[in-house]
Amino acid sequence: MDNLQFRRNRRLRNSATLRSMVRETVLRKEDLIYPVFVVEGEDVKNEVSSMPGVFQLSLDRLATEIDEVVSLGIPAIILFGIPTEKDAVGTGAYHDHGIVQQAIRFVKEHHPELVIIADTCLCEYTDHGHCGVVEGEKVLNEPSLDLLTRTAVSQAEAGADIIAPSNMMDGFVAAIRQGLDAAGFIDIPIMSYAVKYASAYYGPFRDAADSAPQFGDRKTYQMDPANRIEAMREAESDVMEGADFLIVKPALSYLDIVRDVKNSFSLPVVAYNVSGEYAMVKAAALNGWVDEKTIVLETLTSMKRAGADLIMTYHAKDAARWLGEK
Ligand code: PBG
Ligand code: ZN
Repeated sequence: MDNLQFRRNRRLRNSATLRSMVRETVLRKEDLIYPVFVVEGEDVKNEVSSMPGVFQLSLDRLATEIDEVVSLGIPAIILFGIPTEKDAVGTGAYHDHGIVQQAIRFVKEHHPELVIIADTCLCEYTDHGHCGVVEGEKVLNEPSLDLLTRTAVSQAEAGADIIAPSNMMDGFVAAIRQGLDAAGFIDIPIMSYAVKYASAYYGPFRDAADSAPQFGDRKTYQMDPANRIEAMREAESDVMEGADFLIVKPALSYLDIVRDVKNSFSLPVVAYNVSGEYAMVKAAALNGWVDEKTIVLETLTSMKRAGADLIMTYHAKDAARWLGEK
């Protein structure tokens, strides 16, 4: 007789207690990283229209937000700066008193225990909106590395705990590692956007960060969504160059890649649950088409199940609140 006839998979689902005993993946608030957008100016609290519940904040409005993040038990934020002045070489990114440098100092002073991750890129600071230096319509690699390294060092000087370069130039981890070490920041880890696809899911972020490219697209530096083997190549070079964490981005359409990276390397994997993923869930929830709490916790849990050790998500505050309820 076929053995399968006696298998009773439902036995272990019979009560909430049993289900929780055999649960394989547990989402914790310690897994969450909350993205924060800081703008120049005073008394600014602008809701991003495509991201309900997410705000651009000026420094004087930042304290309340950070207090809330800390009181919810979220261990880390990732900071994005939005300057008022932009130029061809993104000077605001590596200026001593740039908006992100000011924000880092401010947050460190108020909450020294909160881990501050600095997103290291040029696109919010360049007038053309590309993540590097351009010549004509071409994004140059080596000249961009110099500016990214300066940016990383100035963020570390301001007090950033982790540097997260998101530009996808070749050799960016090695360049930034050398720059940090030379400046004495040997202990500052690099959380590399190792596998970053050229994705339409970044649309709402570009509204929030005012960072849309003014010509062309990012396809000569960010990856083709069709590629899986290439993701291994990207992660491998970052590992060799000294990355301490590997980010896969976006998350939801790329959970196979999260699993591949988790299985192939021995570094912590970070899934970035990006702006477009947030916007879709929020829009459906606000229409009453899906149950927000259940769908967010299910989504974040599936990212962990796929192999993410940490998750960057705009849902972090809500998720931490919901996790605290249980
Ligand atoms: C900047 C950067 C982007 C995101 C994080 N850092 C946008 C981009 O590459 O255009 C996207 C984050 C999101 O969509 O939530 N390089
Ligand atoms: Zn960029």
